[in-house]
Amino acid sequence: MRIDLEKLKKEALGLISGVKDAKALEDLRIKYLGRTNGELTKLMKSLPKMSLADRRKFGPLLNSLKRELEAALENKLAALKAQSSKLKASIDITMPGKKVSLGHLHPLTMVEKEIREIFTALNFSIVEGPEVESEYYNFDALNIPKDHPAREMWDTFWLRQNEQLTNNKKQLTKSEKLKVNSSKLLLRTHTSPVQIRYMETHQPPFQIIVPGRVFRYEATDVSHETNFHQVEGLMVGKDINLANFKFVIGEFFKRLFKKNVVIRLRPSYFPFVEPGLEVDVKCVRCGGKGCGLCKESGWLEVMGAGMVHPKVFEAAGYNPRDFRGFAFGLGLERIAMIKYNIPDIRLFYSGDLRFIKQF
Ligand code: DAH
Repeated sequence: MRIDLEKLKKEALGLISGVKDAKALEDLRIKYLGRTNGELTKLMKSLPKMSLADRRKFGPLLNSLKRELEAALENKLAALKAQSSKLKASIDITMPGKKVSLGHLHPLTMVEKEIREIFTALNFSIVEGPEVESEYYNFDALNIPKDHPAREMWDTFWLRQNEQLTNNKKQLTKSEKLKVNSSKLLLRTHTSPVQIRYMETHQPPFQIIVPGRVFRYEATDVSHETNFHQVEGLMVGKDINLANFKFVIGEFFKRLFKKNVVIRLRPSYFPFVEPGLEVDVKCVRCGGKGCGLCKESGWLEVMGAGMVHPKVFEAAGYNPRDFRGFAFGLGLERIAMIKYNIPDIRLFYSGDLRFIKQF
C-alpha cells in the first residue's frame, strides 16, 4: 500500500500557516482531524484493514503526523489570539490616552526665579555681567591687588591672553590703559566684578542684585563645584548703613524660607568691604537645637557681606566721601540645598532624572 504522507503533511501545514482567522483554522482541523471524515482520521481508521507489515509501518507515522498537526493548529490558534488582542488594544477608543510627560524648571532655576522676585518686590533692579571677565574687574578693582595673598581666596581659571587688546594700547586713555594692562582674561570667580561695571555707568542711589554663573578651579566634593551660581547684592546711597542691610536680608530670608528667620552677623574679611561680615541664619530645620543640616551648630552660613570699601568706590570713579553702601554675595546652590534639603552640590549637574523629577 502506498500513502503519500509527506504530501499530506506539507499541504496541511501550508494551509494552517496561511490561515487568517480562528474559523478557517477550525475548518482545517475538521478537514484533517475531524472525528468522522477527517483525512488523517480516515487513514487511521483504515489501519486495522491493512496487512501487518503496513500496520507496523504506517501506525507510528500516522500517529506522529497527527501530533504534529495538532501542535501546528494549537500554535496557530495562540498566534491568532495574540494578534487579535493587539489589534483590539490599538483601536480601543475608550482607553485613557497616554500621559505626555512634561518637563519643568530645574531646581536652581526655580530658586533663582524666587530670589529675583523677592528682590524685585524690595525695589532692587536685576543686572547681569560677563562670565569671561578681566583680571581688572574680577580682582584689582575690588581691592585685590596682584600678588596679594587675598587672591588665594579664589582659585581661578585663567584664559589665554587677548593679544588684540594689548596691541592697541596707544589710543587708550590712562584709566583704560590701567584696565588693559591687567586685562588677562579669566572665568569670573564671583559676581562681585559686576559691582564695578554697574557703578562705572550709574549714579547712586540704587539697589541691584546680580545673579550669575561663577567658576572656581577647585576639587569637587559635597559642597564644592567648579561651576556654580551666586547672587550679588549692592545698595549704594548717601547714608546707607548696616542696619539697612540687616533689614533687607532679614526681609529676604523671611520671604525665601517663608518663616521668621533669626539672623546673626559675624566679623569676617573680604578685600572689597570694610567691615566684612559673614551672615548666618538660625537653622531653618532644627530652629537652632542642632541637626545634620547645621552640623549641630544651630546656625547656617548663608552669605558674605559688608560695607563697600572706599577703594572700590574709587575704582568705580566715585568719591568715597560722597557715598556709602552695602554689598553681599550668596551661593545659589547653597540656598537651594538648604531649602530643598539636598545633601550634595554635585547632584545639580549630575543629569540624573531621578534627582530632577523630585522638584
Ligand atoms: N565675592 C565673595 C565670594 O565669592 C562673596 C562676597 C562677600 C560678596 C562679601 C560680597 C561681599 O559682595 O560684600 O566669596
